[in-house]
Amino acid sequence: MTEHDALIEAAQRSRENAHAPYSNFRVGAALRANSGRIFGGCNVENATYGLTVCAERVAIFKAISEGERGFDAIAVVTDTDTLTPPCGACRQLIWEFCGDVPVILSNLKGKTETLQMRELFPKPFDSSNL
Ligand code: THU
Repeated sequence: MTEHDALIEAAQRSRENAHAPYSNFRVGAALRANSGRIFGGCNVENATYGLTVCAERVAIFKAISEGERGFDAIAVVTDTDTLTPPCGACRQLIWEFCGDVPVILSNLKGKTETLQMRELFPKPFDSSNL
């Protein structure tokens, strides 16, 4: 049991709820608030395609709308041999709410890799630029 196992398992469970009939690419994410609570999310696609929301943003919005602030890690799970990093839009949102947290990528075979947000998003635009 590693420190990130609970987060990976939560992301796996959320992935089961993915609504991805257009891409068939099912994604689960989970983030841990400083309070200890874990919030999961899955990708939610739409027939218009463009209204699709990624798993990471669903998890973040759930947590934020529940009043949580401050997070210490986020996990992303897909059923792919090559692990799936967050898309550009999600990196912007993860930076906004989580900052330089570890991003744990995992697949269903137990392969994992942990990257820091600073590596994934080296020159962020954020409130310090305003
Ligand atoms: N997707 C995510 O949920 N997270 C990512 O980081 C990458 C992409 C979803 C969006 C869409 O439903 C599907 O994966 C294919 O792009």
